[in-house]
Amino acid sequence: MTEEGRIVLSVLGALTFCAILAFFAIYFVRIKRPTHFGYETVTESEKRERVAGVFTSVAESYDRMNDLMSFGWHRVWKDHFVASLNPGFSPLTAGPDPRGPQHILDIAGGTGDIAFRMLHTAHVLNANPAVRVTISDINRAMLTVGKQRSTTLPASQQAALSFVEANAENLSQTRPLHPYPSPLEPTSTDAHGRQEQAFFDPATATSSIPSNSVDLYTVAFGIRNFSNIPAALREAHRVLKPGGVFACLEFSKADRFPLFNAVYKEWSFRAIPLIGQLVAADRDSYQYLVESIERFPSQRDFRDMIVDAGFVVAGEGYEDLTGGVAAIHKGMKPRA
Ligand SMILES: C[S@@+](CC[C@H](N)C(=O)[O-])C[C@H]1O[C@@H](n2cnc3c(N)ncnc32)[C@H](O)[C@@H]1O
Repeated sequence: MTEEGRIVLSVLGALTFCAILAFFAIYFVRIKRPTHFGYETVTESEKRERVAGVFTSVAESYDRMNDLMSFGWHRVWKDHFVASLNPGFSPLTAGPDPRGPQHILDIAGGTGDIAFRMLHTAHVLNANPAVRVTISDINRAMLTVGKQRSTTLPASQQAALSFVEANAENLSQTRPLHPYPSPLEPTSTDAHGRQEQAFFDPATATSSIPSNSVDLYTVAFGIRNFSNIPAALREAHRVLKPGGVFACLEFSKADRFPLFNAVYKEWSFRAIPLIGQLVAADRDSYQYLVESIERFPSQRDFRDMIVDAGFVVAGEGYEDLTGGVAAIHKGMKPRA
């Protein structure tokens, strides 16, 4: 072999070696990155699949269980969350014309509780029919229950509502809701004879949520389930318009009130998995839900993550609800 040939071969060899190295680096850093599933340490992809399993399993009983587990408090928190954002009439989220059009993206929107409240406040209370809401979730079973529930809304609100499947950590890969037959029939097959997966498969993505396209991004009781929260916050920042608002309602820490906190923890860890077992025949999913609440960062740490993603916050950046059992965090994408 000529000297030239040897050089070409060794360059090719070196390039192949680098490519293999890069592949494994990406695989281990991105796919195998450790995160938490409740108290267990798992990889990000494993968490995504197990969280999907939890919500597929609880989809049908989700709304009933929420009432039982929180004594109905989740309704009060959600009402307050939506009222505080005042969709359809808010100089904060609607630009120069408070009654102008507004696009709200409800991430991890599940069975629709936040989206339906947003539409009611905007269309009915604020008489602004130019507000539309996109419900996005990674789980087809949850969205399918939401879609079914939305059929009881007035026609004008249904027309202003759309459903998309997406992973909140990558909103450049989304697709319209593909009807999921029933969470009780997970073995059904799709048009190509493949087994249906209850959660979003990025390979079937058909569109993207454009950058700078959203006025208000909401996420309620969803973000603690994400495998990579900083990535989701970066995506929120990308899709929001300058001046747009990120708003999150999530379980939080009630540790400023030790006695109350002790009673709350007893209730969470003893009663909730038991209720899950008795009402939904699913102890493990509800055990995960309480563990995921415990693992979620404190109000201040989460506020700092929001700031790190590029948002500006007012005051402390959060509002405690019911002594900190839940909290609302808000941040604005800077205008300049
Ligand atoms: C507790 S439910 C909250 C549903 C609704 N927002 C509410 O307040 O009733 C959490 C939702 O987060 C969704 N979720 C979990 N991981 C997600 C992800 N990576 N991207 C988008 N949604 C996700 C689940 O599928 C589930 O529907």
